Amino acid sequence: AGLHTQMTKDASASSAESAQALTVNVFYGTQTGNSETVAEEVCDAIRAGGSNAVLASLDETEVEALTEMDYILIVTSTYGEGEMPDNAEMFWEALKDTGAPRLESLQFSVLALGDTAYDEFCEAGKQFDLRLEQLGAKRIQPRVDCDVDFEEAAEGWTAGIVEELAKRKPEGASNGAAAPAAGAAPKAAKSKWTRKTPFSAPVTCNRLLSGEGSAKEIRHFEFDLSNDGPTYEAGDAMGVIPTNDPALVSSFLERCGFNGEEAVPGKDVSLAEAMFSDFEISTPSSDFVKAIEARANDEHLTHIVEHGDKEAMEAFLWSKDALDLLNLYPHISLSVEELVGLLKPLQHRAYSISSSSKRHPDSVHLTIASVRYNSHGRDHGGVASCFLADRVGDQPSKVFMTPNKSFRVPSNNDVPMVMVGPGTGIAPFRAFLQEREAIGAKGMNWLFFGDQHAATDFIYKDELSAMQSSGILNRLDLAFSRDQAQKIYVQTRMQEQSKDLFSALQDGGHFYVCGDATRMAKDVDTALHTIIAKEGGLSLDAAKDYVNKMKKEKRYVRDVY
Ligand code: 2AM
Repeated sequence: AGLHTQMTKDASASSAESAQALTVNVFYGTQTGNSETVAEEVCDAIRAGGSNAVLASLDETEVEALTEMDYILIVTSTYGEGEMPDNAEMFWEALKDTGAPRLESLQFSVLALGDTAYDEFCEAGKQFDLRLEQLGAKRIQPRVDCDVDFEEAAEGWTAGIVEELAKRKPEGASNGAAAPAAGAAPKAAKSKWTRKTPFSAPVTCNRLLSGEGSAKEIRHFEFDLSNDGPTYEAGDAMGVIPTNDPALVSSFLERCGFNGEEAVPGKDVSLAEAMFSDFEISTPSSDFVKAIEARANDEHLTHIVEHGDKEAMEAFLWSKDALDLLNLYPHISLSVEELVGLLKPLQHRAYSISSSSKRHPDSVHLTIASVRYNSHGRDHGGVASCFLADRVGDQPSKVFMTPNKSFRVPSNNDVPMVMVGPGTGIAPFRAFLQEREAIGAKGMNWLFFGDQHAATDFIYKDELSAMQSSGILNRLDLAFSRDQAQKIYVQTRMQEQSKDLFSALQDGGHFYVCGDATRMAKDVDTALHTIIAKEGGLSLDAAKDYVNKMKKEKRYVRDVY
């Protein structure tokens, strides 16, 4: 509710202060905070250009309100398989509804963030763009779809918008910057440590958390930020820029018949160096797969490609890396130019931070499962998780922060904080508990945690016990799925505690979920609805409204992957 009032106040204040200037409503749909950060930068650029900008998440907006607006911009990412991000879903449902209002007097533009590695590239942005057109709105400028290297494309789109707005400015409007909206929070200075200019952080701790015999290898890492490193907030993620496994680089070079000294077109490093630090050589790009198919003479693979059969392709690629694909077809030979033309740039991996900087001002912690498996007669490792686990001995790791302003401890220190974070999903909640302890928040804190076995997978057990003793962790419900004949999951525990859980929500509690998106988060969402219906005496539709209201108030937020 607080945010709503804030938004209305800002909007009216800015139009009163610079009545001559245009007002642009900038909306973001975000899963990890990226689009929100970009949308903020768009607002800055618009204000610098002399117009007013009002920022809000899509779900904070009613579709009807669009009929009152002149200019809107949508900055949105796409989540999973072409789905809307969490805080755009409700707005999208209303916008695509046949009852949505006509928007003939609205001008808009969409900036879509995505990843070409996914089939449904920028799907959410494409949907908004198309639907707004169907409703009669006019484009300020065409949509731009960005790949993971989004900065340049986003800057280009933003510059275009500012230029277009200047053309639309009413006669006599001042060219100076519009006065900042009253009550706008002071902006934190932009960090100098970015994806392109990362900080070199010494890794001061790399400790195994999971026990011997566990199906997983979960590790705790600490990075030293004391030497002018970046700052962060509990709830943010940190990007880690890895290098590839030198052994994998060697095997790859050997398979291709290269010695590594070869020159790489457009780069001033050798092929071996480029494969070590510049190119993604594990996950095959779709161009790589197509190139293999074209040369393989494999009817099965050709059939899959020609029929665009996604499931069959997924099954074919399952647990194969690029080298496995080459090894499947020993007759295929690629030139250096062909090979590097098929490789994508090596990307950072972002991990939810598991510490609070209020408790650890000079360091940042991560909690990561090392991805390892053996297939096709070779050991395979996750690029960044194994880079951290195995290869950052004395040498520092390149890092930068990726803020997630939607994922924060409750701003009200007295309301309950309910957290569901099985496995490595516990990471941001360790940070949240440290944060609430550091700021002296008195609200009750409740964690649902679980994994396969208590004996091997109860990570941070001692810390959690200490937090229980100190009184900062008020309730801990554990779900170890394989310690008994019947599966017990975090949502099983939620159901068992439904009365108390509902009463925590009724007290203004915030509900957080972190971890597996495909199964756990979906089932937890269903359980949440069931519990609200049961304990609130509501129909499932009314329970859905209840949950939607929580989402609007940012009291139901997820960090799921
Ligand atoms: P399982 O593998 O024994 O079925 C972390 O992987 C934990 O999440 C494991 O205990 C795993 O249980 C559990 N898990 C698997 N599917 C789940 C689901 N749909 N909801 C919640 N937890 C799940």
